[in-house]
Amino acid sequence: MHIKAFLFDLDGVLTDTAKYHFAAWKELCDERGWHFNEVDNERLKGVSRIRSLEIILEINGVLDSFTEDEKNALANKKNTRYVEMISQVTADDILPGVSEFLSDCRAAGIRMAVASASRNAPEILKNLGIADLFDYVADAAKVPNSKPAPDVFLTCAEALGLPSSECVGIEDAAAGIEAIRAAGMRSVGIGVVGETPDIPLRATSELNLSKLQVLLG
Ligand code: BG6
Ligand code: MG
Repeated sequence: MHIKAFLFDLDGVLTDTAKYHFAAWKELCDERGWHFNEVDNERLKGVSRIRSLEIILEINGVLDSFTEDEKNALANKKNTRYVEMISQVTADDILPGVSEFLSDCRAAGIRMAVASASRNAPEILKNLGIADLFDYVADAAKVPNSKPAPDVFLTCAEALGLPSSECVGIEDAAAGIEAIRAAGMRSVGIGVVGETPDIPLRATSELNLSKLQVLLG
């Protein structure tokens, strides 16, 4: 296979925003007296904002106690805190090895897109100083079904004008690996728990274009 594009998840692949998602949800849960810990947080990776809230409500056995409007208000409250937190993000928060990998891909003429479930993705990319490196950023707000559905990856491939067979998705979440597979693409996983990517890596520092071209070739 000749790799024509890499489709990057954002949270946990380009930068570690999972810690801010956790902190913002934890504040909300503590206020309400709801249980929420780091293990629960694993289940929210790659999952949309509103679905994340529903998982927290399910864990606490109170999912049926809230109307749609009330759930939206809770999700907005968490997001307000999250947006405050990510305003502190800078280029120093790019995960190890990522900048070099992006440069190598660019030099090799490989297209790059961001396939994120986050509506805050454009803001985070801007704060990281890497927004201009990508040919396309999927607008999570306009993608009908979130991961594990393949939509966000298929939207990226379509925007780049490439078939799935020429795209490789890079993900840290089990839901993301499922989404890549459902999109008919090969996958690179970064410390993924619960799913088996085509190429499992322990950390972003292991991203190496030449090696991936051989392994996926
Ligand atoms: C994903 C994260 O990238 O974005 C999830 O892995 C998060 O944890 C989702 O819930 C939605 O993010 P946001 O910024 O739109 O609330
Ligand atoms: Mg992720």
